[in-house]
Amino acid sequence: MSSTPSPSPVRFLTGITTSGTPHLGNYVGSIRPAVRASLTPGVESFYFLADYHALIKIDEPARIQRSTLEIAASWLAAGLDPDRVTFYRQSDIPEIPELTWFLTCVTGKGVLNRAHAYKASVDKNTAAGVDPDSDVTAGLFMYPVLMGADILMFNAHKVPVGRDQIQHIEMARDMAHSFNHRYGEHSVPPEAEIEESVATLPGLDGRKMSKSYDNTIPLFASREQLKKLISGIKTDSRAPGEPKETEGSALFQIYQAFASAEETAALASAYAQGIAWGDAKQMLFERIDREIAPMRETYQDLIEHPQRIEEALLKGRDKARAMATPFMQSLRQAVGLRPLTQDAAPRQARASREALPSFKQYRERDGKFYFKLVDAKGGLLLQSRALATPQAAGQAIARLNQDGAAALGALQETLEPISDLSAVSAALEALRAAKAAAN
Ligand code: TRP
Repeated sequence: MSSTPSPSPVRFLTGITTSGTPHLGNYVGSIRPAVRASLTPGVESFYFLADYHALIKIDEPARIQRSTLEIAASWLAAGLDPDRVTFYRQSDIPEIPELTWFLTCVTGKGVLNRAHAYKASVDKNTAAGVDPDSDVTAGLFMYPVLMGADILMFNAHKVPVGRDQIQHIEMARDMAHSFNHRYGEHSVPPEAEIEESVATLPGLDGRKMSKSYDNTIPLFASREQLKKLISGIKTDSRAPGEPKETEGSALFQIYQAFASAEETAALASAYAQGIAWGDAKQMLFERIDREIAPMRETYQDLIEHPQRIEEALLKGRDKARAMATPFMQSLRQAVGLRPLTQDAAPRQARASREALPSFKQYRERDGKFYFKLVDAKGGLLLQSRALATPQAAGQAIARLNQDGAAALGALQETLEPISDLSAVSAALEALRAAKAAAN
């Protein structure tokens, strides 16, 4: 087990609303790039099933559950390695609704009035001459705050999303700033990561592939179904032998999303030479099936063994909560939801240096390096495990100084189990406050 915590990996986080069956557009636009990105060194990835968000749109319990199953199985079948990333279900993290409330209290109502999804509903109602908020739930209105909590909970730096979500990420940034402004530097303002090279996939009718247009090809349709759906892709009426345009051809664009540059060039010249639409569709079918077929088997197997998926998600929950619980603890401290017995405020600790907890670094007879955090009276709060180098200890301390209790999750391997999390959070908070006051 590595004992050297890397000081600052880049954190990517994205959520997938569990409101449908994954289609080829989701695969090309989100699943495939995310699985690839998760293999990049120096990147820490968080992927989660946004099932609280799904409740905003769907009130059929069986559909929510089925979609959660299908989406989780799709990600795993597409090669997401749950040991390498943190893969979890939003509703398994009770800290998320708690953070949602904290953020609700620092978010202007007027900001939410301007959120695109809410505004679109209001505009539609206004146009129809009914009450502007007709059929609008408070859930839809609060959607951006729940999303902000998803992101800020894990201090994500980058959030890979489609263009339609940029406004939400900007709102999450504002929430981070508002919270930090009131309570100190706790949150990282996130940035949207828009993958420019990933084109949106056209659907069967040539418009963007989307559930709302009913023009999708399910990612794990059977071979027969896939063939049938592909034969239904809209083409023009040019006969075999007539040269065909690649420009604006949905068939061509879908092919391109799966094929290599050479394969794509070969199809382009076949178009120019007048390939029959039926033959082009056969090529497309074979090409997609070549990529999907091996995953399809894994997918079917997972769907038939939901307990395997459940286990993976529960492991992910434990990993995520190992970060979320101490982080939320530090936020509770920061906003003043804390034990009455505790010294009133880090403000007082600032007054006298003696009152501060401190880190001690030392070497044991085993030749290994250690550190601990002790309170002002020398009482032990936090104990490290054996570390190979003094640098490893220094890095871990730097991270605790910088991120406070939020760093505890990532340092799990480095630390002995914590007996009094609330005392540790308070001590780290006091150190951060003293440092901020000194600067
Ligand atoms: N709103 C996103 C969508 O519909 C899903 C989502 C929920 C999300 N929480 C998130 C995406 C946090 C990124 C980060 O696509």
